[in-house]
Amino acid sequence: MKKVNVGVCGLGGMGLAYCLALSKLKNTNLVAVCDQRKDVAQRFASDFHATPYDRLSDMVERSNLEAVVVATPNSLHAEQTVVALGAGKHVLCTKPMATTLAEADSMIAQSRKSGVKLEIGFQYRYDMRINKAKQMIDKGELGKVFLGAFCLPIYRGPDYWAEAAWRKSVSQAGGGVLPTHASHDLDYIQWFFGDVDWVVGRTDTLVQDIEVEDTASAILKFKSGAIASLIGTTAAVASRLPRFEVFGEKGTLSLVKGHIEGGRPCDLLFSSGKEWKTIAGREPVSSRSYWSKLPKWTTGLSCVPSLNSLVRNLQEFLDSIISDKEPLVSGEEGRKSLEIMVAIYESSMKGQLVRFPVKPREM
Ligand SMILES: NC(=O)c1ccc[n+]([C@@H]2O[C@H](COP(=O)([O-])OP(=O)(O)OC[C@H]3O[C@@H](n4cnc5c(N)ncnc54)[C@H](O)[C@@H]3O)[C@@H](O)[C@H]2O)c1
Repeated sequence: MKKVNVGVCGLGGMGLAYCLALSKLKNTNLVAVCDQRKDVAQRFASDFHATPYDRLSDMVERSNLEAVVVATPNSLHAEQTVVALGAGKHVLCTKPMATTLAEADSMIAQSRKSGVKLEIGFQYRYDMRINKAKQMIDKGELGKVFLGAFCLPIYRGPDYWAEAAWRKSVSQAGGGVLPTHASHDLDYIQWFFGDVDWVVGRTDTLVQDIEVEDTASAILKFKSGAIASLIGTTAAVASRLPRFEVFGEKGTLSLVKGHIEGGRPCDLLFSSGKEWKTIAGREPVSSRSYWSKLPKWTTGLSCVPSLNSLVRNLQEFLDSIISDKEPLVSGEEGRKSLEIMVAIYESSMKGQLVRFPVKPREM
C-alpha cells in the first residue's frame, strides 16, 4: 500500500487534531512535526514518533517528506503554503485559506507552477449531515432551492481569546467570527447555492474586548437567484437559533428541529410539508481543551463536526495525491469562501452592496 509521508506545521489545538486524525489513517506516516515553540515540537515528536522541527523551511528540505498540513495562525498560511509547495510538497492548509485574495492567488499559482496538490481544510463538508444536505440539494430533492438561513451564535470567552493572542488581532487572524468560525459556513453555503452575485454585510465589535469583529450579519444573493442570510457572533451567551435551514420549492432541510442532544443541534431533518424525517445524525464530537473549559450553558452554542470528518477530509487529500486527482476543495474552491468574506468586510466598510468578482487587494 502506498503511504504518503506527511508533516504537520503549527502544533496548537488544530495541529493536535490533525496529528490525531492522521494517526487513524493507514495510508500515511506522520514523519515530521513543526512548531516555532521547540518544546512543543519535541513533545509532539515523542508522542507521534516523528522528527521535530522549529522552522518549516527546514522541515520541507527533508527529501522523503511528501505532504505538509499547515495549521498555523491565519496570517502565516499563504507564506508557509507557498514555501512548502515551492519545495514540491503537497499541502493541505486549514481554513481560512489566507487573509487576503492576493495571498490566496499566490498559493494557487504556486501549486499550479509546482504541479502539486493544494487542498483547503473545510472538513465540515465531510460531516454526514452537511454532506447529505449537499447530495439532496444536487439531486433536486428540495426542488428549486431559493432561500437559506444560517445562524452561528457561539460563545468564546476571555480564556479562548487569551489562549492565543493572534485570534483577536486583525493583522494575524484577518478578522474575527468570519474567518475563525464562519468560514466553514461560508464554504458550505456556496457549495449548496453556487456562485455568488452580490453581498451586503455588516461586521462590528460590539461586546468583546478584541480588535477583530465579534458580530457579523450578511445577505448573499446567488447567480441562481436564491438568497441566503448569515448571522454570526462569538458573544452569544445563550441562543435557540437554528444552525441552518435551506428552503426549496418542494421541501426544507433543517439542522434544528431534531433532538437537542446535550443542548447541541444534532440531526439533519427534511420535511416536504408533512412530518420531519431524520436524514443524518451527528457523530460524537472530539473535545478540545477550551471546550471543556466553557461553562456548561455555552456548550450548546457550538456545533462542530466530529474528528471523523477530519479523518475523512485527510483521507480524501491523501487519495488525491496517490491517485493524482483534483482534491474536493482545491485552492480555487477554497478561495470562494474567502472572496465572500472579503466582500462582507468591504460592504461593511463602505456601507455598500459588493458585486462579484471581488477585486484582490492587500489588507
Ligand atoms: N478546520 C477547523 O475546523 C479549524 C478549527 C480551529 C482552528 N483552525 C485553524 O487552525 C489554525 C490554528 O488554529 P489553532 O486554534 O490551532 O491556533 P493555536 O494558536 O492553538 O496554534 C497555532 C500554533 O502555530 C504555532 N506557530 C506560530 N507561528 C509559527 C511558525 N512561524 N512556524 C511554526 N509554528 C508556528 C504556534 O506556536 C502554535 O502552536 C488557524 O488558521 C485556525 O483558523 C481550523
